[in-house]
Amino acid sequence: MVTVKKVLTGESLVEEYKKTHPGSLKLHEKAVKLLPADGATHAARILDPFRPYITHATGSRKWDIDGNEYICYVMGHGSLILGHSHPAVVQAVQEQITKGVHYGENHALEVEWAELISSMMPVAERIEFCACGQEANIMAIRLARIYTGRSRILRFDQNYHGWSDEVAIPGTAGALQPEVTIIPMNDLDAVEKELAKKEYAILFNEGGGATMAGQVPWWNMDVVHALSGLTKKYGTLWHIDEVVTGFRDSRGGWQERVGVKPDLTSLGKCVGGGIPVGAVVGRADIMKAFDPHVPLEKRISHAGTWNSNPIQGAGGVAACKLYLDGAPQKKAYELGSYLRDEGNKVLKGRNISGRLYGRTVVHLYLGPIEYEPSDETLPPTKDVKKITNPAMAPIKARLCLHLMQRGVATMGARFFVLSAAHTKNDIDQTIEAFDSSLDDMVAEGAFKKA
Ligand SMILES: Cc1ncc(COP(=O)(O)O)c(C=O)c1O
Repeated sequence: MVTVKKVLTGESLVEEYKKTHPGSLKLHEKAVKLLPADGATHAARILDPFRPYITHATGSRKWDIDGNEYICYVMGHGSLILGHSHPAVVQAVQEQITKGVHYGENHALEVEWAELISSMMPVAERIEFCACGQEANIMAIRLARIYTGRSRILRFDQNYHGWSDEVAIPGTAGALQPEVTIIPMNDLDAVEKELAKKEYAILFNEGGGATMAGQVPWWNMDVVHALSGLTKKYGTLWHIDEVVTGFRDSRGGWQERVGVKPDLTSLGKCVGGGIPVGAVVGRADIMKAFDPHVPLEKRISHAGTWNSNPIQGAGGVAACKLYLDGAPQKKAYELGSYLRDEGNKVLKGRNISGRLYGRTVVHLYLGPIEYEPSDETLPPTKDVKKITNPAMAPIKARLCLHLMQRGVATMGARFFVLSAAHTKNDIDQTIEAFDSSLDDMVAEGAFKKA
């Protein structure tokens, strides 16, 4: 881990970063000539001047090509609640690789994996594996269209479901969404008004609230609890996207935490223990569309090359076995609470108007404190515009670079993804880095510009 003692303000931070990351700089210079997103391969990996090039990772830590060590709060974009290279997942995948990576056939692991998923999440009466979370969402739309005979999609503002046309953020360049209607979160009247049109095949919401388990949370749980009854009343299927929260928020996902049961759910990230995978799970009568005996016009012929290959099965079974007792989820939650509480002491101590909030994904809010929520997992405002204020993005990006230089890797300092592999010592070091980063940012006038 890099220890930063000198003051790093203005250009000196970028200069120091480049000086301590020469190998990454060299690779970045090559990458920008080939990889179109400023050399990055995921929107969240874009950082000015560049993110480090990682060579290996274990537990809560990762190391870059220049030997810099990081406490990782990216955690495979949320997929690694067990931490990097968990021994059980590594062993299972290593053993499987020597036996074949893709049979193009059935294998026992997929049955065991489906049994594990079904045992943790009651909605998963049937499971259809695919390659990633958004594929599961696309498939959920197809299933709902077949089941209801309708075509329209009802979604909540800010909720993230992937980048393909009908699930992309509204206004995404090039995305066509003629069948999609977006309504505000927490607005039950808007939900009922739209559903009553009886045009919608499916209602989507993200587990925990919008963006990474609830950057914009559900403040009104009455709304969430009403969704089941309202969708049934108007003949729409209710889908919860648990790609982030599935087996991260609790043993049965966010739906178990809040005590609801949708018709369909999407899984991804943690369900493969870090091996790329997705799954749409749901009621048996809806999932009947995959049955080869149903008439062609009601049938989905799902032929994905990567559907449930044995590497995914090995990683997925190893990870899901560890989720069964809820211990990793509990540990990540406790560490998230500790990070949140200690980080908030730093913000308050420096008179910076902002808060850390959340559960196993801890979000950073910078903006006015409009009320003190009794539940510390919630932000101190109910104004979505303030939570997602684009003016804060450059400040968070700057904080991200300050933290990176101090050995703390985040996704743009927007949030910290916890795992069961993090330790109290990691959090203490993170808080030290957070404090010292804010120190330099105050000195460079970052918060005055806000
Ligand atoms: C809630 C949610 N749904 C869907 C997706 C898309 O999953 P994937 O990137 O595996 O396609 C993501 C990705 O971050 C997500 O956060």
